[in-house]
Amino acid sequence: MFLSRDCTESPQSWTAFAPAKLNLFLEILGKRDDGFHELDTLMVPVRLFDTLSWSPAAEHEAESFRFHMAPAGSDIPTDDSNLLGSNLVIQAAELLAREAGITPCGTFTLTKRIPIQAGMGGGSSDAAAALALANRAWGVNYPHQRLASLAARLGSDIPFFFAGGPAICQGRGQRTSPVTGLPKLHFVVVKPPVAVSTREAFATLQAPAYQELPTGKATLHAQRLVELLRTKNLCLATYAMRNSFERVICNLKPRLQELLDLLRRINPWGGMMTGSGSAFFSLCRSANHANHVAGRLRSYLDWKPWNESGMNRCIDRSVHAQGTVSETALGGAHDRIHGTVWTTSTCH
Ligand code: C5P
Repeated sequence: MFLSRDCTESPQSWTAFAPAKLNLFLEILGKRDDGFHELDTLMVPVRLFDTLSWSPAAEHEAESFRFHMAPAGSDIPTDDSNLLGSNLVIQAAELLAREAGITPCGTFTLTKRIPIQAGMGGGSSDAAAALALANRAWGVNYPHQRLASLAARLGSDIPFFFAGGPAICQGRGQRTSPVTGLPKLHFVVVKPPVAVSTREAFATLQAPAYQELPTGKATLHAQRLVELLRTKNLCLATYAMRNSFERVICNLKPRLQELLDLLRRINPWGGMMTGSGSAFFSLCRSANHANHVAGRLRSYLDWKPWNESGMNRCIDRSVHAQGTVSETALGGAHDRIHGTVWTTSTCH
């Protein structure tokens, strides 16, 4: 994530760009005594950004703390009463203020482009952005390491967004080891409008109790993938990519399996789920290859306006903002699976 001073608004306004992530490898090593699952995962940030901006209260206004969605009306929670739980941006800002012993102030405005409940880390990235933004705007100036440990209190994969690029994440996901030397990677991503809750996905796994492995053992698989990517053995790397959630979630929602099978038929390099889904992605040789795969995927799908729910509207905005996304629907007239297809690449 990165910050920029937003001089069009006011000299003290700031904007944070919060990237999405893809899990190129995700292995659940077992369920721990504290109820969390021990993970070994390789995550990469990709070029699809939510933006979070902060501006100070106007002179005539009392010092206040506000949160807005832009444009208003998407399904993202803005308070504790929402179905999806309390908004992580507000939680993050309040946590930093408490920690620093200050009163939170100013207006945060979140523009969502990353689809929610997709396994693409949108909510976590927004929370990391809120910590970084408030840290700068309020003059708290904690180092990134301290922000990352605050982030771990809010959610397991939030610290990843302070790693500054690809990282192997272990423990419950909060222990990050940055990975350097990866080439720029190109992907096609497809997101059906099926929401998967991370909490429910973990509960469905019924993972065995976690047995601690000898030091370093757990990192071997993700590390082997890193070596293949570093040496640009991309085709071979696809054989080392896997996700423990994929089979369980696809068994639960068979239409997701159909979409994954289609992706795999179109790109011989395969396709896989990111996080606990419901988005899938396919690693490609180049931007051209990704465009080709995306085009073929779309040719199997019927074009259809993408406006059936708040979540879809939220994705629809990303379509126009990014310019690389297409609105698509898959399936027969009475039995449609809708999916949004776009190309993206790593950013670091
Ligand atoms: O840490 P976070 O709040 O994102 O996790 C949401 C839920 O996902 C947890 O309450 C837990 O049920 C589950 N989880 C897990 N193991 C992890 C991460 C999350 O079981 N490593």
